[in-house]
Amino acid sequence: MKTRVAVIYGGMSVEHEVSVISALQAIQNMDKEKYEIIPLYISKDGTWYTGDAMLDIEEYKNLSALLGKSQKIQLTRNGNQVIVNKEPRPKFGKAYINEIDVAFPVIHGTFGEDGVLQGYLELLGLPYVGCDVLSSSTGMDKVIMKHVYREAGIPVLDYVWFYSSQWNHDQEAWVKKIEDSLGYPVIVKPANLGSSVGISKAANLDELEEAIELASTFAAKIVVEKMVQNMTEVNCSVLGDYESADASVCEQVLGNDEILSYEDKYAGGSGKSGGASKGMESTNRIIPAEIGGDKTKEVQEIAVKAFQVLGCSGVSRIDFLIDNDTNKVYINEINTIPGSLSFYLWEPTGKPYQQLADDLIQLALKRARERESLMFSIDSNLFSLGKLSGGKGAKK
Ligand SMILES: Nc1ncnc2c1ncn2[C@@H]1O[C@H](COP(=O)(O)OP(=O)(O)O)[C@@H](O)[C@H]1O
Ligand SMILES: [Mg+2]
Repeated sequence: MKTRVAVIYGGMSVEHEVSVISALQAIQNMDKEKYEIIPLYISKDGTWYTGDAMLDIEEYKNLSALLGKSQKIQLTRNGNQVIVNKEPRPKFGKAYINEIDVAFPVIHGTFGEDGVLQGYLELLGLPYVGCDVLSSSTGMDKVIMKHVYREAGIPVLDYVWFYSSQWNHDQEAWVKKIEDSLGYPVIVKPANLGSSVGISKAANLDELEEAIELASTFAAKIVVEKMVQNMTEVNCSVLGDYESADASVCEQVLGNDEILSYEDKYAGGSGKSGGASKGMESTNRIIPAEIGGDKTKEVQEIAVKAFQVLGCSGVSRIDFLIDNDTNKVYINEINTIPGSLSFYLWEPTGKPYQQLADDLIQLALKRARERESLMFSIDSNLFSLGKLSGGKGAKK
């Protein structure tokens, strides 16, 4: 029997459209002899849908028409099975649409890449592709991520972080802290978004205040980083899990001097027409990165370490900034559900997309088998043994 794979995509994230592209690409490249694919699209308002029309990218141009001909669904757990049911349940006829063996989340950013979806899948008892709750959420928060990497001896840029309420309360003290420990220029970021949303550079106090104000509209937690002025941006993908993981070839991202905006990144720089139709491929990049063999090796080694320190699984992309003046390599961030699942880095590494998708599903099933052998509860009922009495409290 074929393994039934539910590809979950869309989602309540600024990267919704990119997710649609990444997911449909992944579906196209899965081996249909081995896998039966069930598309599960989450709309921007959080409603789940399925249906064959969802497999055609053209259909998304008229979203309301697409949703009109698609089926709203809900996942339910029934014994050991996870079932896709029509929602609302029909009064007559069956609600059952399909059963799922493994979920394949392809949602970038909030609610999809940050552990929220992963937690939901855990509760459903459904094996799933990619990072678990802890690695997803750690990777999503730029501050927590830096704490963990710093502790592990992985190089990150110097930073100051605070909640926007702290900033509002004592701006002067924070400015002093930033100026004393970082100096200008700095980069200001919301701690937990993606796609450069809310990120800006500040070269003086006025710009700093403006940048923090902007970032605060997107997140309550802000990180201010030392800006690397003469840099090479290099990304490297890692595939595997805590036991074994491999690095891909590196890509060099060609920026202009400005931070790539959301529209630069996804609309090929035009910023207006075209929308997200080209996805990640429209960013200017050189593969493999032209940084020489030694630097490539260094980046790949740090990438694998960064992946395994967080306990990642599946495929991630680790983004680096190389300071050309000092030749030092810093981790900028990890993307635990990278755009296009980084397939374009795996193909030149010698792994076609179909093989990548296969590896990802097999890693998910491996983790599920390993988890099955762990004990999550104790079968004996302490109440029936008469060991617990309400009055004295439960703990000894
Ligand atoms: N410390 C920095 N110095 C110089 N440029 C930076 C720095 N941090 C980020 N950038 C630029 O901003 C871009 C977006 O920042 P990043 O942290 O990757 O945010 P996102 O999660 O939105 O992708 C990077 O790709 C890089 O071009
Ligand atoms: Mg980035």
